[in-house]
Amino acid sequence: MRNRTTLLVLISGLLFWSLANAQTSNKAVDAEGHQWWQHAVFYEIYPRSFEDSNNDGLGDLKGITSKLDYLKDLGVDAIWITPCFPSPQVDFGYDVSDYENIDPMYGTLADFDTMASEARKRNIRIILDFVVNHSSDQHKWFIDSKSSKTAKYRDWYVWRDGKAKGQPPNNWVSEFGGSAWKLDPKTGQYYYHFFYAEQPDLNWRNPAVKDAMFDVTRWWYKRGVAGFRLDAVDTLFEDPKLRDNPTVSGKNAYGDPLQERIYNTKLPEVHDALRGLRHVADETGAVLIGETWTKDISELKQYYGDHSDELQMPMDLMFTKLKFSAPVFREHIAAVDGAGGWPVYVVSNHDIVRSYDRYGDGQHNDQIARVMAALYLTLRGTPIMYYGEEIGMKTTPPTQKEDVKDPIGRTGWPKEKGRDGERTPMQWDESQNAGFSKTSPWLPVPPTYKTYNVADEAKDPNSVLSFYKKLLNLRHRNQALLDGTYTPLNDSDQNVLSYLRIYKDQVVLVALNMSGSPQKVNFELSHHGFSSVKNLLSTPKSSAKGDVVTLEPYGVFIAQLAK
Ligand code: GLC
Repeated sequence: MRNRTTLLVLISGLLFWSLANAQTSNKAVDAEGHQWWQHAVFYEIYPRSFEDSNNDGLGDLKGITSKLDYLKDLGVDAIWITPCFPSPQVDFGYDVSDYENIDPMYGTLADFDTMASEARKRNIRIILDFVVNHSSDQHKWFIDSKSSKTAKYRDWYVWRDGKAKGQPPNNWVSEFGGSAWKLDPKTGQYYYHFFYAEQPDLNWRNPAVKDAMFDVTRWWYKRGVAGFRLDAVDTLFEDPKLRDNPTVSGKNAYGDPLQERIYNTKLPEVHDALRGLRHVADETGAVLIGETWTKDISELKQYYGDHSDELQMPMDLMFTKLKFSAPVFREHIAAVDGAGGWPVYVVSNHDIVRSYDRYGDGQHNDQIARVMAALYLTLRGTPIMYYGEEIGMKTTPPTQKEDVKDPIGRTGWPKEKGRDGERTPMQWDESQNAGFSKTSPWLPVPPTYKTYNVADEAKDPNSVLSFYKKLLNLRHRNQALLDGTYTPLNDSDQNVLSYLRIYKDQVVLVALNMSGSPQKVNFELSHHGFSSVKNLLSTPKSSAKGDVVTLEPYGVFIAQLAK
């Protein structure tokens, strides 16, 4: 009897445990051993620009909560919210002054909890942005650190004497212009900042820093967060000898000499830190996404870890740099797909020109947007969308320096216009300020909102939004698209990128015309024993007849093949 009771207690305990961990469970979700994030579609939200619930011109958490139904309906499984923590907003939240709270402009922790519980009801997971490399200069750790050379937190940041009077410790240049060192007159030493001077680098060589940062992640996991997007991971460590970086020819937008950053980026110690963060993430089955800017596939591979013990989802940001060309994408995808890790595809984010404009030729932007959607939402891997991409939002940079909000745009103008253009308010409807706010938003709404907005596009079956919805719906219910292998076809085709996704006896053919002229491709389907071609989703004038697929300019054709 006692044994039975113990068993019952054990079973109910286990049941409770598994329910409590449902949000972040690491359990495989399918026979292939795939986990939830491998089947999920992620969606990046820039909270300042998503939805303004209190009409102060800035988006907020309540605004996000009010749009969860929209996201669910679209087919989003996880939202990554860029930093919403207390911050002086020098870098719009990427300068965090308290890692364990919400900035009042975005709401409160109670608002966060409401958002998390509403998201959970809809089976949408929440990913926060963890700024691991630096804090704000207003963080209490830094305020103490700069107070004296013997302060408790002195060694939490990177302090050094200058080389000589008036000279910084070395030649390192900040990503955002000028020397990466700032003299603090009080203690006469310089501190290091890879980004703005208001973003001092944390000293990851100090075990206390490491532990404190690990604890921050635990704190949020306990609050129901399903993982983190780790910001700027490649800059966590600096050469202890602070050797000068070699200078190469040319200048950046701010007039600084270009450097090969061999002594302050991508140091091998980065991987120790990532393993540590992963170890903590594994305590709750959380997922880690990396802002991994890499020069090639072998660098990208390293971020997964030699024993798959670092990032589950290092973003393939090289994907955002490719030319719109079938052979270029074909070559890149094959390399990423063959790299051994689970690919993570991104086409736009808050730091780069939206793919709508990057690839758009001014005439066929909508068609090209559909091709890009059909591409990265049907590849083997996890896609991360960027808000507004699904409605064809246009990058709209300021036209005069006085209007620039992003500091790098002010320093770098006119060469570097900053990142305001890709951070404009979400376009919800045709009403004033695109339905984002009742007051003038922090950045102007692009004029395109009258035609490109959620309300109007939802009614139009041919809109970019309707295409995204159909595609996401297809992706969620098609086993081959979720779990299938990737097999490229027609290697030498200069115009059409085509591939199969194969899962057991299910085969999906994807054909994308990346050119502005009509194309016909003979896939010799009957020769390969396929007698049926069922159109799953295509653009209006693309279709299959017998073995031949006809594609309109920038046409998309996705079909289920059967024998
Ligand atoms: C990352 C962010 C970017 C920010 C920088 C400094 O690159 O994506 O927006 O400015 O880190 O934190």
